[in-house]
Amino acid sequence: MTTLTAFEIASRFAAVKSSPVRDIQAVIARPDVITFAGGIPDASLFERADFAAAFDYVLTHQAKRALQYAGTPGEPELLEQLALRTSRQLPTRPDQLQVTSGSQEAIFLVGQVLLNAGDVILVEEPTYMAAVQAFTLSGARLIAVPTDDHGVLPDALAEAIATHRPKFVYLIPTFQNPSGRTMPAQRRAEVAEVLLRTRTPLIEDDPYGELRFEGEAIPPIASLPGMSAQTILFQTASKVMAPGVRIGWLRAEGPILRSIEIAKQAIGLHSAVTDQLAVARYLATCDLDAHIAKVNAVYRERRDAMAESLAAVLPAGATVTRPEGGMFLWARLGGDVDTTAMLPTAVEAGVAYVPGRAFLLADPDDTTMRLSYVTNSPEVIAEGVSRLAKVFGWK
Ligand SMILES: Cc1ncc(COP(=O)(O)O)c(C=O)c1O
Repeated sequence: MTTLTAFEIASRFAAVKSSPVRDIQAVIARPDVITFAGGIPDASLFERADFAAAFDYVLTHQAKRALQYAGTPGEPELLEQLALRTSRQLPTRPDQLQVTSGSQEAIFLVGQVLLNAGDVILVEEPTYMAAVQAFTLSGARLIAVPTDDHGVLPDALAEAIATHRPKFVYLIPTFQNPSGRTMPAQRRAEVAEVLLRTRTPLIEDDPYGELRFEGEAIPPIASLPGMSAQTILFQTASKVMAPGVRIGWLRAEGPILRSIEIAKQAIGLHSAVTDQLAVARYLATCDLDAHIAKVNAVYRERRDAMAESLAAVLPAGATVTRPEGGMFLWARLGGDVDTTAMLPTAVEAGVAYVPGRAFLLADPDDTTMRLSYVTNSPEVIAEGVSRLAKVFGWK
């Protein structure tokens, strides 16, 4: 049935799908449903006292600024702190950063600034669905490049660049959403070589890099020789501090920053000053590294719990990733299962996941699903997996 309305929605929305995770938000908030769906940090791990102290400081000592309009790039003390953090991986000055309202806004800003209708961008298969959503809204045509366990295949990338002449390539090299996989250093070097040779810009999205449970940290592609000027790097407070503050940042070099600033003015003037100052205060006075170490210890246990529970029940032929960090496992069940069709049954049985189809552009493999292990305790994870096993008829 068509609802009559005075409003005619812009045609660019026709191709844009709503996020399946946000769509099932109400269902998965039900206390009887164990959710493996969203990349939702465990709220019991938030540093509530530290944030209370930071907001209290801001509203007591900086209220006139905190409650006022502000400049677009970001508050100086926050930019200073963020530059220090990013400089651990890649030397960064505060004036090379733009504060964003989460990395999601960074994705949208970059899409607005760089894309003309019909432009092609290359992404990994699978990729982060809300990036697909945002880039599609900016008029892009997304082409998925084949991947293996180490991420995008350099030869396939070179071929796709030659064929499609993309505006940029969008990658999540570390603890990728949704696959959980990480691109090793060697592959990063090969990918950088292709991008440099073809002068193709890179958008490197890195929300999960600091959530490493084991193994050596791998520097971002942006930090490889020659790449920093050709890359826009996204980072965020969401996964390591708290997503509710909606503080992210992007690092770029050169005149593009000015265009991004203008886009940010047009979209929201600036990110919330209270939150910016509170995050700056938190970073200046609290030990984020200690917090991340604590969170990683908890998440590691949960990753193990989910991997072990799944290994005990998954049918022969099914595969599941075992990431060294981040939030997600990616399971391929095989056979003729349809995880999209099964979701309502699973939710009815008290367990939620995200069907893999949402993340796949080229090859909509209906037997895949993304499972987040961070939100629940090991006991609840075991119960959730046993519900999945019942729903899917695993042993
Ligand atoms: C790959 C990726 N990019 C960006 C985001 C957006 O994060 P935020 O806007 O909370 O910083 C997410 C969140 O799940 C993500 O997985």
